[in-house]
Amino acid sequence: MYTINMSTDAFTAMDKYQLSALLQANESLGKYNFTQQLEQTMAAQLGKEKALFVPTGYMGNLIAVIVHCNRGDTVLVERNSHIARIQHAAISSIAGVTLHCLAGKQGMIQHDTIEQQILAATKYSALRLVCLENPHHYSGGSILSLDELHNIRVLLERKNIALHMDGARLFHASFVQKLPLNQFAESVDSVMVNFNKSYNAPLGAIIAGPAIFIDQARKWRKMLGGTIHKSDLMAATCLAALHHAGEWMADNHRMTEWLAQHLRQLPGIEVNENSPFTNIITLRVRHHRTNAVRLYEQLGCNGVKINLLNEHTLHMVVHREIQESHLERLIFLFAEILK
Ligand SMILES: Cc1ncc(COP(=O)(O)O)c(C=O)c1O
Repeated sequence: MYTINMSTDAFTAMDKYQLSALLQANESLGKYNFTQQLEQTMAAQLGKEKALFVPTGYMGNLIAVIVHCNRGDTVLVERNSHIARIQHAAISSIAGVTLHCLAGKQGMIQHDTIEQQILAATKYSALRLVCLENPHHYSGGSILSLDELHNIRVLLERKNIALHMDGARLFHASFVQKLPLNQFAESVDSVMVNFNKSYNAPLGAIIAGPAIFIDQARKWRKMLGGTIHKSDLMAATCLAALHHAGEWMADNHRMTEWLAQHLRQLPGIEVNENSPFTNIITLRVRHHRTNAVRLYEQLGCNGVKINLLNEHTLHMVVHREIQESHLERLIFLFAEILK
């Protein structure tokens, strides 16, 4: 039993607006189409022709790869992205494509790296798609600049290669950089945003893109078993988040800054350069007496759950339920363990 769980933003409870939206949607089931309202709202916000509600971000990414590619194609991805780490087997077996994984700089592959790799990635099959994760979860929520996104777009357009963005936490990037979602999505053919992460919905994500892409995606959602009869219940909680998340997001980012600053003052702790970018912190442990594995275990014994990414690296997410007192406790425990 953990008293503080900062390992993920996937378990945050709905806020009062979402709960009340859920109850109202339950009253009007079959009478009002919240799913369609969400799809239209998100298509407009992301600047795409159409959008589709899917139960999970995982399914959204999978469908995007299936629709963009033919069997036997190659897809270029960053090696620590969700697609490479967690969806590799599903994507290669269901979509029938090969993933060509590249090391990014703080999770971001740059256009010149892509350019250098195009030959290798196309030697034995067609490179049809590049997937970017933005923000990049395991790299402390790093964000790709709009200029770099544009450079990638220009390069891929010349080569007739499609671009998909796994924007599971794009709402955070948009909030921090004070830029509308469509500016991030402008350079990509398709984009996935997740409501069950940053936005606390029990389930739900959106994929958006050209009408022809979404029409095919809709068929694949059905074939993969992702069509939910009562999706309006979930869509209503997503719409409520769109209206009210601004109320807690600022605090969330302020607390992440506070945490990063205090972690940096501890001996043997190296918080990712220039971070935090959003609400995620990734840090390396270089301490003469302990290491990341022991820190992770000792925090766990004290009721605090964070993530162990590898033997040197810890990762934590400041989600909506995290309060200042939790962060003070975390810093206290870190300091005690590192003494
Ligand atoms: C970057 C990223 N993409 C996609 C997903 C998958 O989302 P879901 O949990 O809704 O399947 C996650 C989940 O953690 C994620 O972090």
